[in-house]
Amino acid sequence: MSTVIITGANGNLGLVVTDHLLSAGYRVIAITGSGGAGKLPDHPGLILKEADLGDEQKTTALVTSLTDHYPDIAAAVLLVGGFAVGALQQTSDIMLESMIRMNFHTAFHMVRPLFSFFETRKEGGQFILIGSRPALDAREGTAFFAYSLSKAMVVKLAGFVNAEGWRKNITASVIVPATIDTPANRKAMPEADFTRWVSPIHIAEAIAFCMSDAGRNVQDNILFIGKPS
Ligand SMILES: NC(=O)c1ccc[n+]([C@@H]2O[C@H](COP(=O)([O-])OP(=O)(O)OC[C@H]3O[C@@H](n4cnc5c(N)ncnc54)[C@H](OP(=O)(O)O)[C@@H]3O)[C@@H](O)[C@H]2O)c1
Repeated sequence: MSTVIITGANGNLGLVVTDHLLSAGYRVIAITGSGGAGKLPDHPGLILKEADLGDEQKTTALVTSLTDHYPDIAAAVLLVGGFAVGALQQTSDIMLESMIRMNFHTAFHMVRPLFSFFETRKEGGQFILIGSRPALDAREGTAFFAYSLSKAMVVKLAGFVNAEGWRKNITASVIVPATIDTPANRKAMPEADFTRWVSPIHIAEAIAFCMSDAGRNVQDNILFIGKPS
């Protein structure tokens, strides 16, 4: 099995995805923020790195060192992201910039150097990005303008990767989850019907499918997972 990078690996979704891909036999390079390993497992196939992916230069240096050490990196699952409430009329530049930095820049800073690395491999490489329903339908995102816009940029990033990468075996898939059943969401919305939420394991399985031989052949892949709320 090849090596896969997972960003946001210590987050609510990241922990489940990391476990799943380790169990599937991948070597996983887990990138975390300042939270460090957190609840990540102690596993011989896990390599841990800490980085602020909002920092362009440091992220480029990290990717260069990783691709030098692990030339079989075949995919990057880019899970870093964050959420903020606020309709268009309540959105300041500061809020917009913060959401774009959190959701778009952290992905873009990984994609740019990795795209160059994947170009050097005849097998190319794969990006798995995380969008959100409001990024694709403004009617679902009127209460979260900055968040929705920043996730729309992530979806568009995947489109550009596919447009530029298809001759080079470089592809991007976007996972578009409904509300995920995480401990953090249960705590934040105790009154909600958790049965309507999407299990993180189903997202992990979808990501593993994207990385399978069959999944790698699917073009312009946008996978909606779970029911709209
Ligand atoms: N939760 C949902 O219902 C839901 C629904 C739709 C889409 N999504 C998307 O799914 C993804 C995962 O969500 P989640 O609930 O697992 O989020 P989460 O628990 O908040 O995890 C976010 C992760 O991002 C890392 N991170 C944040 N800023 C970083 C930075 N500058 N550099 C490096 N790492 C950074 C955090 O690491 P540290 O703690 O170490 O900083 C953390 O591991 C996100 O993209 C989110 O937008 C979530």
